[in-house]
Amino acid sequence: MFEGGAVSDGLRDQWYVVADASDVGEAPRAVTLLGERYVVWRPAGGRVDGPIAAAPDRCPHRHGPLSAGTVADGCLVCPYHGWSFDADGACVLVPSAGAGAPVPPTARLALCPARERYGLVWISPGRPNGEPPTIAQDADPDYRRVTAGIETWHTSATRMTDNFCDVAHFPFVHAGTIGADTDPVVGAVDVEQLDGDFTGYRYVVDVRDERGDIVRQAMSTGFALPFSVRSNTTYESGPRAGQDRVLLLCTTPVDDVSSLFTFVVWRNHDHDLPAEELLAFDRAIGAEDRTMLEQIPGALPLDVTGTVDVRSDRLSVRWRQAFGRLVAPGT
Ligand code: FES
Ligand SMILES: [Fe+2]
Repeated sequence: MFEGGAVSDGLRDQWYVVADASDVGEAPRAVTLLGERYVVWRPAGGRVDGPIAAAPDRCPHRHGPLSAGTVADGCLVCPYHGWSFDADGACVLVPSAGAGAPVPPTARLALCPARERYGLVWISPGRPNGEPPTIAQDADPDYRRVTAGIETWHTSATRMTDNFCDVAHFPFVHAGTIGADTDPVVGAVDVEQLDGDFTGYRYVVDVRDERGDIVRQAMSTGFALPFSVRSNTTYESGPRAGQDRVLLLCTTPVDDVSSLFTFVVWRNHDHDLPAEELLAFDRAIGAEDRTMLEQIPGALPLDVTGTVDVRSDRLSVRWRQAFGRLVAPGT
């Protein structure tokens, strides 16, 4: 599904997280997306706040790996014969021809759309219609954002996104964290358009906080195609009433059976907490999901007749149907 000629145009025309922005510095970086290699670099050099560029990791001359090259004077320099490509992808120097010699017009990189958003690098191998999903709290100075860094999971991106839309596994997979002693019954899942980018549902849960108090949380969980899942949590009672938290889970298919995973948290509280402390609980939850998913072979069948679904699966089924239409339009 995610490799070679099997990748649909609908899948290509999407945004994917391929790196943590802080991991793209002075050197160009290789990433693999949908079974193909890309190079990501900062044409302005090592400034991490400089713009990002991306292209297939293949020099047009003899297909040298551009990601093994360097960035110098605003250009990406191929390590094989030293051709230099400017920020627009045009070759501006062929050393063997001598300075000032004309450059073949086909000596050009096919740049991919690239964005830096939420401390992450997003690229598209096609022509996306819109932008990466909007998290409104990112523009609100009351919220602090923390990014978790990138992991590689040995499972399909389809299984990961299905899992992130599903709360019925909490008492079982997450018995060591959020799921301890919780009610396994999942209430109504009424899927709606939550906002411009996310489709999901709202619900209210009573959980026991770290002090042993029962607190009521208003939550929503939703997806944005292809592989973003967002959970919003607002404490409605107890000492944390009014505290609000947004969790964005991002999945990227490296190939059919391995995927990148990262998450970003926004909070309007605990601004002084060290980032690692703030991330620790969500990291532990992610590790529990990973342990389960890496035991399940292959991709999730997109045809819903390939699985048995119940009421609590309503959101993940909705995602699977929408995602299936990207892969095979008209179905
Ligand atoms: S392969 Fe890149 S310059 Fe020759
Ligand atoms: Fe989970």
